[in-house]
Amino acid sequence: MQGSANLNVMIKAARLAGRSLVKDFREVENLQVSAKGPGDFVSKADMAAEQIIRDELMEARPNYGFLGEESIETEGNDPTRRWIVDPLDGTTNFLHGMPHFAVSIALEHKGEIVAGVVFDPAKDEMFYAEKGQGAWLNDKQRLRVSGRTRMIESVFATGVPFGGRKYLPAALQDLARLMPQCAGVRRWGAASLDLAYVAAGRYEGYWERGLNAWDIAAGVIIAREAGAMVEPLREGKDLLTAGSLIAANGGMFEAFAKVIRERPDA
Ligand code: IPD
Ligand code: CA
Ligand code: CA
Repeated sequence: MQGSANLNVMIKAARLAGRSLVKDFREVENLQVSAKGPGDFVSKADMAAEQIIRDELMEARPNYGFLGEESIETEGNDPTRRWIVDPLDGTTNFLHGMPHFAVSIALEHKGEIVAGVVFDPAKDEMFYAEKGQGAWLNDKQRLRVSGRTRMIESVFATGVPFGGRKYLPAALQDLARLMPQCAGVRRWGAASLDLAYVAAGRYEGYWERGLNAWDIAAGVIIAREAGAMVEPLREGKDLLTAGSLIAANGGMFEAFAKVIRERPDA
């Protein structure tokens, strides 16, 4: 796909941040054995990645707004355009030396996501999409959602809240309803990649509660451009601010949503 100038800026920023994260990730692997652990180091790696992305995007498009997980939101002179950035999605994996994390960058125009990039630097997988242009992986691979439509053959992804977070009981009940009916559920710990994997046909569907806009903005357009249906868990809500979503290939969506939406507002 011949991407727009904006998409090229996003891909370049994601690559630069990804390179920095991979370098830091090697150090994190070494720090696992230290008594203090890699916590502080990872916070710095996370913030450094956001700074790299911010510098790159702001230099290329100084008028756009910027919403990043690790910094205060900046409004742009152009109020219609905003970057939405998660510099490190999958922090817990990164912290534990597990190579499953991503840089997520989306561009919003007049309230709608028009481009998204999710880059997994450990596997060198660059997922990207622009509105109306399809979804792509690396240079030339067109992404399509899977064709499976039988629940019992399907693998789903989710995120289960950790610690005492408020959605834990609802998430456990979702699992109790869904797991007897499907081929497996994965909890890999990076929402942006979960959506990208639905786009790539690796998972049939994904749902999660308690998310932020930066976790999902890029992944949503990638999934949709690959043919997925993506909706807020509670129908009628605004997808990016709802915090809970459900995504699946079109043939599977209804059956999957029926199970998950038994408790939509929990
Ligand atoms: C988290 C990941 C995880 C999801 C959490 C997110 P972070 O983002 O996407 O998969 O379950 O809800 O907060 O903290 O690693 O950027
Ligand atoms: Ca995140
Ligand atoms: Ca993050």
